[in-house]
Amino acid sequence: MVKAVVLGASGGIGQPLSLLLKASPLVDELSLYDVVNTPGVTADLSHISSIAVRAPEIIQGPVAKRQQKITGYLPAEDGLKKALTGADVVLIPAGIPRKPGMTRDDLFKINAGIVRDLVKGIAEYSPKAFILVISNPVNSTVPIAAEVMKQAGVFDPKRLFGVTTLDVVRAETFVQDITGEKDPSKTVIPVIGGHSGETIVPLFSLAKPAVKIPAEKLAPLIKRVQFGGDEVVEAKGGAGSATLSMAYAGFRFAEKVIKAVKGEKGIVEPTFVYLPGVTGGDEIAKETGVDYFSVPVELGPSGAEKATNILPNVDDEEKKLLEACKTGLKGSIEKGVEFVHNPP
Ligand code: NAI
Repeated sequence: MVKAVVLGASGGIGQPLSLLLKASPLVDELSLYDVVNTPGVTADLSHISSIAVRAPEIIQGPVAKRQQKITGYLPAEDGLKKALTGADVVLIPAGIPRKPGMTRDDLFKINAGIVRDLVKGIAEYSPKAFILVISNPVNSTVPIAAEVMKQAGVFDPKRLFGVTTLDVVRAETFVQDITGEKDPSKTVIPVIGGHSGETIVPLFSLAKPAVKIPAEKLAPLIKRVQFGGDEVVEAKGGAGSATLSMAYAGFRFAEKVIKAVKGEKGIVEPTFVYLPGVTGGDEIAKETGVDYFSVPVELGPSGAEKATNILPNVDDEEKKLLEACKTGLKGSIEKGVEFVHNPP
C-alpha cells in the first residue's frame, strides 16, 4: 500500500501533480496539504473514479484492485500531522515560483523557511518517507531538508531526492528538434550537476542511443536545457514558472521511486542526492568537491541505492561545463546548510 503526500498541493504544480498521482494505479492513498484551498482541490479530485492496482509484473499473483483514498488538509487542527502520518512518499512543491528577471536563488528568502518547516513535520510524523523536493532553489532546499532531518536524528540520505527530472525531460524534448527522433523518451540523456542555470549539465556525448548533433547546434542546445525554465517564466509574463511540465516530471520521478520500492529492478534516474550517504557517492563527492550533486542513481527498495560515476566519461567541452557547475553549486549548498544552523 502506498500513501503519497503533496505539500503545496493547491499550487500551479501541486494541482496537476496531485491529478497525476490520483490517476495513478500505483497510489493507494493520496493526501494533500497546503495553506490554502486544499478542501476544494481534494473534493474535486475525489470525484475521479480511478483505482489502485497491484500490477502483476511487480507483485506476483492475481491483479488486485482497490479503491483509492484521498484526503486534504489545511494547517489548522493538526493538518500537517494528519497529512503526513503513514506517508511513504512526500512530494514538496510548496513555495513561491519565479517571475521574469528572477533567478531561482532569488526565491531562497521565502522558500528556505517553507521547506525547513515542512521537513520538520516530515521528521516528526513520517521520518521514513521518501522525500522528493521540488521547491526551488533545489540546490539549497535539498541541503536544508538534509540538515533538518540530521538535527532530528532521522536523516536517511537514500530517502532524500532533489527532483531534477524536468531538466532531463527538457533535454529529451529539445534534442528531438535536431535528431527528429519520433519518441524522445527513448533517448536517455544524463543531465547532472544541480538545478539552476549553469549548474545544469546535460551530457549529450553520453546519450543512449548516441545522438548526432551538428557542432554549431550543440552550444545553443545546452544553453536551452540550462535556461529552458526562463522560456516558460517569460511566456507566462509574471504568472509563474513551469507548472504542467514540472508536474509531469515530478510524477515521472515519483512513479519510478514507487516502482523501485515495490521491487522493479533496473530503474536509474538522475536526481540531486547527498553523495556521502549513497553507495558510490563518495568517489563523486571527491571528484566534484561538493556533497550534493545530481547523477544517475539506481533506485531500489531502500531508495537511492547506487550513484553512478559517469564523470570519467564526459568529453572536454562537458568538463568545462562541469567546472562552472561546481563553482555555482558550492555556494548554494553552503547557503542551505548555513540557513539551518544559523537562521537569519
Ligand atoms: P505556486 O505559487 O503556484 O504554488 C505554491 C503553493 O505552495 C501554493 O498553493 C501555496 O499556497 C503553497 N504554500 C506556500 N507556503 C506553504 C506552506 N508553508 N505549506 C504548504 N504549502 C504552502 O508555485 P508553483 O508554480 O507550484 O511552484 C512551486 C515551487 O516549485 C517553486 O518554488 C518553483 O520555483 C518550484 N519549481 C521547481 C521546479 C523543479 O524542476 N524542481 C520546476 C518548476 C518550479
